[in-house]
Amino acid sequence: MRIRAAVLEEFGQPLVVREVELAEPKAGEVLVRLVACGVCHTDLYTASGADPSGYAPTVLGHEGAGVVEQVGEGVTSLVAGDHVVTLFSPQCRECVHCRSERTNLCLAIREQQNKGYLPDGTTRLHLDGEPMRHYMGTSTFAEYTVMPEIALAKITPDAPLDGAALFACGLSTGIGSALNTAKVEAGSTCVVFGAGMVGLGAVIGCRLSGAERIVCVDLSEDRLRLATHHGATETLVGGPDAVERIVELTGGFGADYTFEATGNVQVMRQAVESARMGWGLCTVAGVAGKGETLDIVPRFLITGRRVAGSSFGGVKGRDGVPKLVERWLSGDIDADAFISHRLTLDEINRGFELMEAQDGIRSVIEF
Ligand SMILES: NC(=O)c1ccc[n+]([C@@H]2O[C@H](COP(=O)([O-])OP(=O)(O)OC[C@H]3O[C@@H](n4cnc5c(N)ncnc54)[C@H](O)[C@@H]3O)[C@@H](O)[C@H]2O)c1
Ligand SMILES: [Zn+2]
Ligand SMILES: [Zn+2]
Repeated sequence: MRIRAAVLEEFGQPLVVREVELAEPKAGEVLVRLVACGVCHTDLYTASGADPSGYAPTVLGHEGAGVVEQVGEGVTSLVAGDHVVTLFSPQCRECVHCRSERTNLCLAIREQQNKGYLPDGTTRLHLDGEPMRHYMGTSTFAEYTVMPEIALAKITPDAPLDGAALFACGLSTGIGSALNTAKVEAGSTCVVFGAGMVGLGAVIGCRLSGAERIVCVDLSEDRLRLATHHGATETLVGGPDAVERIVELTGGFGADYTFEATGNVQVMRQAVESARMGWGLCTVAGVAGKGETLDIVPRFLITGRRVAGSSFGGVKGRDGVPKLVERWLSGDIDADAFISHRLTLDEINRGFELMEAQDGIRSVIEF
């Protein structure tokens, strides 16, 4: 079928909205009609050419939500009409990682997905008759996409799909980093660095865990106000003295749990150093620039601090995303507050501009 999609033709150039070919789903694959898709920093990072593993041409987009149109041979968990959230982090339920409670990093299709192919090593996308690679296994800046069954989370049809799309990436990452990775205990003191989608998600996760104090640190007063809305009990404008101020705020010890959601390695270091002696756990969710390293003075570790990393908040997507969506519908999570702009597919480049200007948290493309 011919569909309209936003194509990254050349790095550093605006995306081009044009017709591309999408083939029918093969065995184990599903055709999804997109209804909404968030515009994320990771899309911009690839579009800019800064991502060393990026390739072009491709159809960007990975924060999608939509409706199943057609299923390929052997698909058993989805039928036409089901509402789904797209997962760049799949869950096959069979690999050694899926069978372990300790990680969400499914191994089933990693290699092909990273190269831009569907699990059988081919593409369903074609541009002017030539095969075109998929992006993050999702390619959701498009009217339709074909994805593996194991990379789609079936959600309740009661959930509006614009808000549901937010659970495809940053929001689940942030919430999950607190609930799954750090496993925040009730009554604890938490510090979250960064109040973008991921950091605000971590604030929500800490609140849902029953944290007593949630300090959010950001450079923007506007974003700190959002942090308060989502559950931060205190806010702090970041800077070189952030560690000192947090230690002071916490009786000279530091926090039980700290979270880093900026992608800046200096801030990661601050997050490690603001964790409490004895048992403080620092969870890093931010993605650093190519080649950057995190400096830690070993004394911080010997005296009982620990450091963990979190990919997609440790959420096993097919099981975890539907549950988070339910918590949104029950009022525990205010996902709607994250949608700052609604755009059409043709306005996709405007979505990137808004992000670069830090105007709002999330632009959502509505199809
Ligand atoms: N681990 C994962 O699976 C995963 C998933 C999605 C995004 N990410 C990463 O998480 C990070 C955050 O993503 P986002 O979408 O929330 O980004 P964002 O840019 O919207 O938010 C980052 C925030 O950090 C703040 N900040 C910058 N410097 C600071 C400082 N010195 N002190 C305090 N705050 C500071 C900014 O003001 C901004 O509000 C990025 O690095 C992104 O790549 C990771
Ligand atoms: Zn994203
Ligand atoms: Zn798996």
